[in-house]
Amino acid sequence: MRRPMMAGNWKMNKTPREARELAQAILAQVGTLDTVDRVICPPFVALSALADLFTHSSIGLGAQNLHWEAAGAYTGEISAPMLAELVSYVIIGHSERRQFFGDTDETVQRKTAAALAHGLIPIVCVGETLAQNEAGETATVVGGQVAAALDGLDAEQVAGLVIAYEPIWAIGTGRAATAQQAQDICGGVVRAAVAQKIDAHRAATVSTKVRILYGGSTNPENIAEIMAQPDIDGALIGGAALKADSYAAMVRATAHLYSTR
Ligand code: PGA
Repeated sequence: MRRPMMAGNWKMNKTPREARELAQAILAQVGTLDTVDRVICPPFVALSALADLFTHSSIGLGAQNLHWEAAGAYTGEISAPMLAELVSYVIIGHSERRQFFGDTDETVQRKTAAALAHGLIPIVCVGETLAQNEAGETATVVGGQVAAALDGLDAEQVAGLVIAYEPIWAIGTGRAATAQQAQDICGGVVRAAVAQKIDAHRAATVSTKVRILYGGSTNPENIAEIMAQPDIDGALIGGAALKADSYAAMVRATAHLYSTR
């Protein structure tokens, strides 16, 4: 059975002091709820403080981006070896980065390879726009993004990956995909794309090991139904992760659901 994961993507929110306060509140509520992988991804400037705070807890820490080179003349960028001293996870190719900061399938692939080379667990984001969805292009777009991100990786690397399916029309809109829609894409497109790219060529069963998250307007009310889907192993949570109460409620709902499986 794949371990469930509730990953909070704080985006560009919380100063270092605010981040510490929120992290302390989360720690107090779900710091020991080990049956669910809890991962917090604050802005870069809060990583150091939160790494200290989470040292003796089982809460994982993640960054929201990285550069693919290990070091060099790239003003303003952060590399995998720098992150590896502080975090275990890194979000790659979030749609906001693809939309506003020039991330492409190619840079997502390079960032994913760089993260893996330095022992980080990538949370690779894929998802279609509303226009693509309405044009019936979801499977082609999302399947293509998954295949591109996996280019050049070996089966073992892919097995440790986390992939987040986040339909862009559902992010921050309050309009989540239905649990069935999310299942259809996470299973029928994302996991199928992993199988096609890796399993078929290497006679492996990697696709059954990859953890697939759904993201886009998840909250304490809809999380149980989403997490009940067979191909959804967790959530990448934006807005609802910015409050300890709602984030903790989602972790608890997931723990409860998995305890009855
Ligand atoms: P949301 O964001 O939960 O606020 O919709 C999700 C995300 O962008 O990762």
